[in-house]
Amino acid sequence: MTRPADVADVHALRDLAERVAREAGHLVLEGRAAGVDVETTKTSPVDVVTAVDTASERLVREALHAARPQDGILGEELGHHEGPSGLTWVVDPIDGTVNFLYGIPAYAVSIAVVSGDPTVPGGWTPLAACVHAPAQGRTYTAARGAGAWREDSRGRVRLAVNEAPPLSRALVGTGFGYRAERRVGQGRVVAALLPQVRDIRRVGCASLDLCAVAAGELDGYYERGLQPWDLAGGALVALEAGAVVTGLRGAPAGEDLVLAGPADVVAALEGVLAPLGPDRDDEPGVVATAW
Ligand code: IPD
Repeated sequence: MTRPADVADVHALRDLAERVAREAGHLVLEGRAAGVDVETTKTSPVDVVTAVDTASERLVREALHAARPQDGILGEELGHHEGPSGLTWVVDPIDGTVNFLYGIPAYAVSIAVVSGDPTVPGGWTPLAACVHAPAQGRTYTAARGAGAWREDSRGRVRLAVNEAPPLSRALVGTGFGYRAERRVGQGRVVAALLPQVRDIRRVGCASLDLCAVAAGELDGYYERGLQPWDLAGGALVALEAGAVVTGLRGAPAGEDLVLAGPADVVAALEGVLAPLGPDRDDEPGVVATAW
């Protein structure tokens, strides 16, 4: 049996994630400059994939496989390849694809390596990660037990979450799924939360939302519907910056719901959100009425 990565390994894993994310980021920027077309759609007509998403994931998979052939890879566009090492690389080749399509710079290549099963909420532990936003010139890295860092043109800084403000002064990030049915419930929940916080931000890139929590650019974040590739990289950056990353009522963070922030913000956010059922979709009848 192959032993899981030990603490000494996480630095090398983080460096590999960063090297490959930067290479993919270069390809993504070149792809944007060359012009972007929608290649196909997934869960709804607005859930798009571009040729650059696919090319970026190919590059990442090939580079990771060349460096660590025993590891598994789970990517947003090209699926799950299992490996014998017990480690899996979880890859979003462009998180924030709609921003990418429109030329809004909030998009990122997110690469995390986890032990356990990344498809099972709570069944995995992130060990190392890089979230690289090439159009913003910002690169976030984290290794388990070794902190979270952001590098940009001004240098490299260690990240720490904000001291928790009261919820009424908290800037809270969130996001919405691609399916109209799910958005009805998400709209209802955010409408109830909005009067109770400083303001809401919808940046359009979950991994960068989590990095923003880590960097103190958001006080908290919640979202329903995140997939492992949206979550794994940013979650480790947030955790290593001192955030709590969890689901509702002690459930693990996952597709049902992700809550992130300093512990007191998460507790306050959970207190307001829980009665609203943010971890379930509204009944189809409600959808019909609302639309
Ligand atoms: C999406 C973004 C968005 C979030 C969606 C994700 P994609 O990822 O992270 O912010 O609200 O839930 O699906 O599709 O651009 O990789």
